Amino acid sequence: MCGIVGYIGKREAYPIIINGLKRLEYRGYDSAGIALYDGSQIQLCKTKGKVVDLEQRVEKEISIKGSVGIGHTRWATHGVPNDVNSHPHYSNSGDLVIIHNGIIENYASIKKELMNRGYTFTSDTDTEVLVNLIEEVKKTEGVKLGKAVQIALNQVVGAYAIALFDRNKPDEIVVAKLGSPLAIGIGDDEFFVASDASPFIEFTNNAIYLEDEEMAIIRRGREVKIRKIKNDSLVNPYIHELKLNLEQIEKGGYDHFMLKEIYEQPSVIRDTYRGRLLANEGIIKLGGLEEYIPKFINADRIIIVACGTSWHAGLVAEYIFEDWARIPVEVEYASEFRYRNPIITEKDVVIAISQSGETADTLAAIKLAKEKGAFVYGICNVVGSTISRETHSGTYTHAGPEIGVASTKAFTTQITVLTMIALKLAQIKGTISKSNYMMHLRELEQIPNHVEEALKSNDKIKEIAEVFKDASNFLYLGRGYNFPVALEGALKLKEISYIHAEGYPAAEMKHGPIALIDENMPVVVIAINSNHYDKVVSNIQEIKSRKGVIIAVVTKGDTVVREMADYIMEVPNTPETLTPLVTTIPLQLLSYHIAVMLNRNVDQPRNLAKSVTVE
Ligand code: F6R
Repeated sequence: MCGIVGYIGKREAYPIIINGLKRLEYRGYDSAGIALYDGSQIQLCKTKGKVVDLEQRVEKEISIKGSVGIGHTRWATHGVPNDVNSHPHYSNSGDLVIIHNGIIENYASIKKELMNRGYTFTSDTDTEVLVNLIEEVKKTEGVKLGKAVQIALNQVVGAYAIALFDRNKPDEIVVAKLGSPLAIGIGDDEFFVASDASPFIEFTNNAIYLEDEEMAIIRRGREVKIRKIKNDSLVNPYIHELKLNLEQIEKGGYDHFMLKEIYEQPSVIRDTYRGRLLANEGIIKLGGLEEYIPKFINADRIIIVACGTSWHAGLVAEYIFEDWARIPVEVEYASEFRYRNPIITEKDVVIAISQSGETADTLAAIKLAKEKGAFVYGICNVVGSTISRETHSGTYTHAGPEIGVASTKAFTTQITVLTMIALKLAQIKGTISKSNYMMHLRELEQIPNHVEEALKSNDKIKEIAEVFKDASNFLYLGRGYNFPVALEGALKLKEISYIHAEGYPAAEMKHGPIALIDENMPVVVIAINSNHYDKVVSNIQEIKSRKGVIIAVVTKGDTVVREMADYIMEVPNTPETLTPLVTTIPLQLLSYHIAVMLNRNVDQPRNLAKSVTVE
């Protein structure tokens, strides 16, 4: 995720772009940059840091006059956040300047080819490769910028929303979209370009949202021309009338970032496996893992260290790794691990999981493991974060910035990465059958559709929330793969609604928590199709016979639990190993709605912080 902004018209572009970038900063905030055409040349300024850092630098370093320009706020995917990797990027001649949100998956082969033709690169980004590919096409084919963009984009694989202009023709901005959002604001003799409409909402209510595989040529004082990138056919633009206010737009029309992030899960899970999972070919390819596979396979055990929600993802991984890859796994709270003089040897592999990549306890656990000679692998969301730099290697989740303090999409993308690692190791070790491996690859690819399906129960879950919002305690039960989901469901409810909730393995209930059960105690039970189904049904009976109230997460089409439970939340059927990716969705929504009904500050719950950099 990154934010892009562009302007061409009659006003000064600088304030529009800077304010627009501030509104898009939720999309990424590790670096920012701007390029303006000042009437004779391009003025470019970029920096690691936030948009305010860019602002300070621009005012010192460049002429900020000009009525054409583009700006970018970055959430790094290729290359650490630094000044050089920040956008915009020039082409080698200095004629073209581009901003990009997305990932060009085949950038390495294109880069190699361009280098053979004499191109040089200053950054580590895929974006600099794209702008030079466009330049090369423009030169060799002798075509205009728009055509060159079209030809070049037909050669790339990946996702993009781009905006670029040519210093020799600065009355035109070319934009294109595939997989990443791009809106064009239509003003009076002026046009705006942005990742969402928030940068231009005070200037116009009219916007075109480009569809995937469309590009537009935006010329000063002319109509916007939209074409299909693949077959060049002209598209009749549909102009939307914007009815949202500024705050709503920044949250993409959702009332809270948390809800927006819950709904982003189908697309970010897809982003996380995009280019890494090729189900038809039976391939999983994780850049950070390939070289270190022998370390994992020969490890005495895998130790997973993490905190909070990331620790819950680690617990899910324990089940998957042991089941498929037959490698012993221990999951540790980083805060306990670091202080208890653990036994770690060079034959251990430590996996550290962290959304922010800055959690102090997880970082300290990594340092300890490294000191004792273990190989440490990171699974982080924030590119260039301290944990991603401190670990020997790792895999990024591609969840995009998570703004809501309660973690949602980070959890499901972490499980997606861990599932891919486990499948890959099992396949290489030969501990999973070919058919089971292939089936799981195909099913993993279906998870975004299943999550979308699970999200459709939102209204029903809201009704359930209304019934239980005044309860003072909740119990969450699950077994096997869904025991960690029960813990995560309880944590979500606690942190945003301030209602006490406990997660338990369903069978453990009878060893204590059963004493709590009465008609006032809602019990959320994950009772999906699984090897434990009958056992969970028995647990539900135990609760019912003590007048407990059951809210059950069931597989679509379930008839048995439906009869016994007071309320049900349905999720689509998927192999048991993958169920945490879907069963967690109704639990996120349940907590969200209860918290909203109780008037809680959902995105910034009391006493919590997004990144816990203190121990
Ligand atoms: C829960 C939550 C926290 C974090 C924990 C670890 O919703 O957000 O429990 O999961 O603080 O944070 P990271 O993953 O950034 O290390």
